[in-house]
Amino acid sequence: MSTKAIIDRQFYADVVGGLSSPNKTIPSKYLYDEAGSALFERICELDEYYITRSELSLLETCAPHIADDMADKVQIIEFGSGSDLKIRTLLRAFTGNVTYVPIDICAEAVQQSADALSKDFPHVHIIPVTNDFTQPFTLPPSSDDAEQLGFFPGSTIGNLNEKEGQRFLHQAAENLDDDASFLLGMDLQKDDTHRLEKAYDDSEGVTAQFSLNLLTRINRELAADFDVSRFRHRARWNEKRGAVEIYLVSLQAQKVRVGDHVFDFAEGEGIHTETSRKYTLEQIEELTTSAGWIVKKRWIDDKTLFSVNYLERVT
Ligand code: TRP
Repeated sequence: MSTKAIIDRQFYADVVGGLSSPNKTIPSKYLYDEAGSALFERICELDEYYITRSELSLLETCAPHIADDMADKVQIIEFGSGSDLKIRTLLRAFTGNVTYVPIDICAEAVQQSADALSKDFPHVHIIPVTNDFTQPFTLPPSSDDAEQLGFFPGSTIGNLNEKEGQRFLHQAAENLDDDASFLLGMDLQKDDTHRLEKAYDDSEGVTAQFSLNLLTRINRELAADFDVSRFRHRARWNEKRGAVEIYLVSLQAQKVRVGDHVFDFAEGEGIHTETSRKYTLEQIEELTTSAGWIVKKRWIDDKTLFSVNYLERVT
């Protein structure tokens, strides 16, 4: 069976399983098909999505420091490399022998960004990998003397629950060499609900489009009949969980068919699609230490919105 058919079967099982649960849910990784990945790139350009700009300016500052700190020969492995803005900032600081391994669930997105990068960074050797990094993974072998740097920007760690986040970081520690470092973007908790909610529900409606595209994708790939105009995107800060929670909300009572299954929606009923956790500094320490890393250095912007954490293995 082709990889595509296997992915579709898993996609179908995940959607049917998620919609059958009392609290309807669909795994957020399915937001990133070709159209979704393109919309996500647009989200990253929005002023209201402060995460990208805060992180980019932090990367400008920390990249030279990290390039200096590491060997001349490096291998940078990026997990979930949807948008290439950040790696560009990092790569500009590395002038030695660099291999870049972008890993992304979307084959089109990872290939497109590899093509664009190889034009602008001819000295960088690029090995694109299509993979779901939330599942157990193996890495292409590193050349013996290259020092490895894992790169996980954009607060993607915040999309994993506590256990998954810990498992991911632990797995990265296991898969990377003992002397590897890791650069981890983590969004900070802040007392500004308006800013947090706007970041996930912008005035131009790009985020709403990104969110609703999931239903369009399900219609196309899984023989479903969602009427997209009968759902809306909702993003709410959940103080207790310290997270922004994202839903697709049914605007009326309705039935939706997905393949052989029919699902009932009540008016106002939501499908949970994403959680974006925000961290206190203590939580960052806790999570990284529990997964076998320590924070060697941390950069935080002057509005204390976002943090970039430079980790090394606990030995
Ligand atoms: N990693 C991103 C984040 O948590 C994902 C994201 C941004 C997202 N905006 C979104 C996911 C809107 C779903 C809907 O910041």
